[in-house]
Amino acid sequence: MTNITFIAAGMMLCAATALSAQSLSQPKDEARIDELMSRMTLTEKIGQMNQLNGMGLSKDMRGSVRSGGVGTILNELDTDTINELQRIAVEESRLGIPLIFARDVIHGFKTIFPIPLGQAASWDQSLVEQGAQIAAREASSTGIRWTFAPMIDISRDPRWGRIAESLGEDTHLASVLGAAMVRGFQGEDMSAPDRMAACAKHFAGYAASESGRDYNTTWIPRTQLRETYLPPFKAAADAGAASFMCSFNDINGIPSSGNRWLNVDLLRGEWGYDGVLVSDWGSIEQMIPHGYSADLAHAARQAADAGVDIDMMSHAYDRHLEKLVDSGKIDIAQIDAAVRRVLRMKMRLGLFENPYVRKTADAFYRTDALAAARRAAAESAVLLKNNGVLPLAKGVKKVAVVGPLADSGRDQVGTWCFDAEPEHSVTPLKALRDEALEIIHAPGLAYSRDKSSESIAAAVKAARRADVILCFVGEEAILSGEARSRADIALPGAQTELIRQLRATGKPLVLVVMAGRPLTIGAEVAMSDATIFSFHAGTMAGPGLADVITGRVSPSGHLPVTFPRMVGQVPIYYNHKNTGRPAADITLIDDIPVDAMQTSLGFTSYHLDAGDGPLFPFGYGMSYSTFEYGPVTVSTGPNGTVTATCTVTNSGRCTASDVAQLYIRDRVASLVRPIRELRGFRKFTLDAGQSADVEFKLTPDDLGFWRADETFGPEHGEFDLWIAPDSNSGVPVTFNY
Ligand code: BGC
Repeated sequence: MTNITFIAAGMMLCAATALSAQSLSQPKDEARIDELMSRMTLTEKIGQMNQLNGMGLSKDMRGSVRSGGVGTILNELDTDTINELQRIAVEESRLGIPLIFARDVIHGFKTIFPIPLGQAASWDQSLVEQGAQIAAREASSTGIRWTFAPMIDISRDPRWGRIAESLGEDTHLASVLGAAMVRGFQGEDMSAPDRMAACAKHFAGYAASESGRDYNTTWIPRTQLRETYLPPFKAAADAGAASFMCSFNDINGIPSSGNRWLNVDLLRGEWGYDGVLVSDWGSIEQMIPHGYSADLAHAARQAADAGVDIDMMSHAYDRHLEKLVDSGKIDIAQIDAAVRRVLRMKMRLGLFENPYVRKTADAFYRTDALAAARRAAAESAVLLKNNGVLPLAKGVKKVAVVGPLADSGRDQVGTWCFDAEPEHSVTPLKALRDEALEIIHAPGLAYSRDKSSESIAAAVKAARRADVILCFVGEEAILSGEARSRADIALPGAQTELIRQLRATGKPLVLVVMAGRPLTIGAEVAMSDATIFSFHAGTMAGPGLADVITGRVSPSGHLPVTFPRMVGQVPIYYNHKNTGRPAADITLIDDIPVDAMQTSLGFTSYHLDAGDGPLFPFGYGMSYSTFEYGPVTVSTGPNGTVTATCTVTNSGRCTASDVAQLYIRDRVASLVRPIRELRGFRKFTLDAGQSADVEFKLTPDDLGFWRADETFGPEHGEFDLWIAPDSNSGVPVTFNY
């Protein structure tokens, strides 16, 4: 028996009074900043608050840098250009303040890791941290020292294209993994040449957009904002994230870039965060179409008042701040505070000492990076169904590899990886050809939206000749990501028809779904013998999936987001409230007798056509082995701590990993509480037949919640507690707190 102890405490956002973000200031830096600021003109100060998009070595850019009119630059990638612009900043500008070069390095720079939603499916913080570290190493080798990641928007709506870029629907999981990413990007010391500044985005509530349509309005009560959307940001601040980014959306009518309560009262005041707050691209200017600002000068004033330190591409600050200060509409103290934060970030990055980047040969695609990306691809694969066809049996010789995603290096890297080089992608087809298998390849469809059925016959023919069909379907990368929302989240094109015809061959059918979001694939899963869901898994998707398919690695991914049966169930998430009439006695639409009286059916909360519950619940994922979770024991200790333990046993036939998930339910409270809430998790590996004790320690804060008066804390009474492999299984124990 092995002992695995997992301390869950301290991960959650708790009482505001008890917490303040890690201070990012160092006394010696502050003195240096004071000295520098005493010599800065107002124009130079505003320059530090201005971020421009890369324009190479254009005359305009050289001029802006030389005059101190720009403090940070995004999307400049050429190392020689970066060094030359830096030289102008350091040697030719009056005060010699270095620039920071920024880029969206979201899930890898060259070596692409699974999309963040896929990384979240691994539930493996060390792997997630390593992915960010490798991304930082690769990106910083070109001179990029600031990434706009992690994206930690809690996403409960698979229609929203940016769910791909998120860590899923759960606040606790996203808090833990987001903090791991911050550590991975920044390391202990951000000034190391292979590290970069992180940016927690988008602050806040962006993913709650109505109907999952990107940039749309959000309505979020304060208690929900604090409980669901803000904790990952607090965790990122506590992990030392150098910067935050405003979100595009309005919350309850106030766009984030002009939200003083959010950015000043809460972020700076309550949390004590002293890192940089950057706007999103054009988000200051966009307060005009929002209907919150009359013109750009008004928007500049509102954003500065709301504590936004850097204007990314609205040209609101460089055009209007000076006049606003001169006319007394903006207090110079606000400008000084913003500039101080920008200079502090530059110092933390060591740019005053080491402004230039030294070119590194072979910084990309190193062996360790590819190995980690392969492991991440395997660990993020979620086995949704298996009737025994996986892993492929020894006797399987001929394999039909079909489907539009089997050999699409571009699509498997997913969204938000501008610097990916698809020619470096190892596709499933390529990887499977390296196995001791005879591969018969016939895609059937050219791309995921392909509606033509001409090539399906060839795929069916290939399937007939094979022992097993491996069918790679899903979504092209372009269908998820920013502004890529879908109202229908079914498999696009003629993919379902392809699957139907493959099914009709009677050959064992394995589906591998490669996508940027959960899809409504109930019918397709039902037609398969096994289904693996692989959120776009990056450069090494092919080898990672081949590891799983052949059984070298037992799948251990668990869903970081609920899969609906039908899109009309959205928003659907595991930690919902119970309602006064929870689903019971479900009668589905086809079972209702003709002319049934209204009172002949029950009156509970479900959809007539979808029933109750998801296609697959949050936290779900199968393995090639089986795990038994023993009874949970709970004991309460001093200071209100709660210890929960259970014995897990690998009762199957192979070494495998699983994720023990601890959920609680506060049965009666002053505000209705969710039916379950994740408060801890532990990924573990056990050999066949091996058992281990998994122990979680909870503090009173882990039992707490935000009450109607916006105070935080636990309320005494009965709690249910589960340690289970997903959000829908396990037997609760009840204890009194
Ligand atoms: C996105 C941000 C991104 C920024 C800079 C915006 O459109 O919302 O997430 O960091 O562009 O590329």
